Amino acid sequence: MSEVVKLEIDGKVIELPVVIGTENEKGIDIKTLRAQTGYITIDPGYKNTGSCFSSITYLDGENGILQYRGYPIEQLAEKADFLEVAYLLIYGNLPSKKEFDLFKSSITRHTLVHEDMKRFLEAYPFNAHPMGVLSSMVCSLSTFYPESQNPNRAKEAIDMTMHRLIAKLPTLAAWAYKNKMRHPFMYPQNDKSYCENFLYMMFAMPSEEYKIDPVVVNALNTLLILHADHEQNCSASTVRIVGSSQANLYSSIAGGISALWGPLHGGANQAVIEMLDQIMADGGDMEKWVAKAKDKDDPFRLMGFGHRVYKNFDPRARIIKKACDDVLDKLGINDPTLELAKKLEKVALEDEYFVQRGLYPNVDFYSGIIYKALNIPSEMFTVMFALGRLPGWIAQWKEMVENGDPIGRPRQIYTGETKRDYIPLEKR
Ligand code: ACO
Repeated sequence: MSEVVKLEIDGKVIELPVVIGTENEKGIDIKTLRAQTGYITIDPGYKNTGSCFSSITYLDGENGILQYRGYPIEQLAEKADFLEVAYLLIYGNLPSKKEFDLFKSSITRHTLVHEDMKRFLEAYPFNAHPMGVLSSMVCSLSTFYPESQNPNRAKEAIDMTMHRLIAKLPTLAAWAYKNKMRHPFMYPQNDKSYCENFLYMMFAMPSEEYKIDPVVVNALNTLLILHADHEQNCSASTVRIVGSSQANLYSSIAGGISALWGPLHGGANQAVIEMLDQIMADGGDMEKWVAKAKDKDDPFRLMGFGHRVYKNFDPRARIIKKACDDVLDKLGINDPTLELAKKLEKVALEDEYFVQRGLYPNVDFYSGIIYKALNIPSEMFTVMFALGRLPGWIAQWKEMVENGDPIGRPRQIYTGETKRDYIPLEKR
């Protein structure tokens, strides 16, 4: 394989090094391109641009492979605990028993949030979207822990910020929901596991005992693992780019939450359920909605379909589709939305438009149906995604800092007016 590529430009030939990853992913290193030629590259949406070297997640979109630190997603989803996966992503290896106990106890001891933060919550309108609340509350954490604003802190202090975030996000997420319902906040209980504690804070009431269903806990554990990282997606890239200015970790994660909120990214899980409800209310004519999705003059898209990287299948969608059947079966739920989703998938997958473009169900197509079965309201779906993705965002941020990556600052090709003189207002 070539070690360099040659580029001929304005009659001059330059050589650019080829870089190859451990899974044989190939790239051209253009770091010196502008200095050597005066040219930059243009790649809107970064469809061909590698922004970093990373050893966290490997993804092969053509073959539907996803691995965290080398471990296949299928194995982790079936066997691991979410906090174990969080440790793996952040620190690079599965923890030993001792390391895991220490990690869990550090997370457990920081689940409470400052009482003053409750006052912020109470000031949000009752119909505030929980993603807006979550992003703002996470950024606000930086004001309660001002030491986090120092980019040159000791490693232990940085670890503490990472642990605080993982510990407090479920509390903030559950409280955003409680606040919306105008229900009393439930405080974390540190004898419960991570997933149990979240479910408790979401659904328990002070007036009666809340029994946690292990089927629900397992389903939540699997969903969080499936969402835990996905290399350089929109929100992870946002976290890296915010953090590259040495902004603190809380504000970098708040940026990631905001990026995730959009319906083309994590917000798709809410949009999928809304779409399926709409199709059902409209009589369930699949052909009509598939035709709308294909019509370039119609803004409608099949939500939960298509992916920038996966062009054959999304391995997470396969696992979730199966989990969906299992969970609904175990909980004794017969949700017509699941049948509708399966029919819609079948119609779309047989359609030339979707086949040609490699459009398959992504992770969000079936996740909303499980969340619905777990009684989680649709506005909270993307919050659930954020809970799962947090360790991935933290790992991406940590790697970026440790690699000493430069501040993220793309260039552009200017297409505006050329120089012109100012005309005073009265002469315009
Ligand atoms: N429905 C209908 N057509 C679609 C869809 C869809 N869901 N997705 C892509 N297409 C079409 C595009 O119109 C385009 O057609 P063209 O070649 O005729 O112009 C072609 O497929 C390629 O699509 P792009 O938008 O160029 O692909 P891109 O990689 O930029 O976008 C994205 C990927 C944003 C995920 C897109 O497929 C989409 O909008 N899907 C629906 C939203 C969604 O489910 N997002 C969640 C993604 S997973 C995640 O973030 C966790």
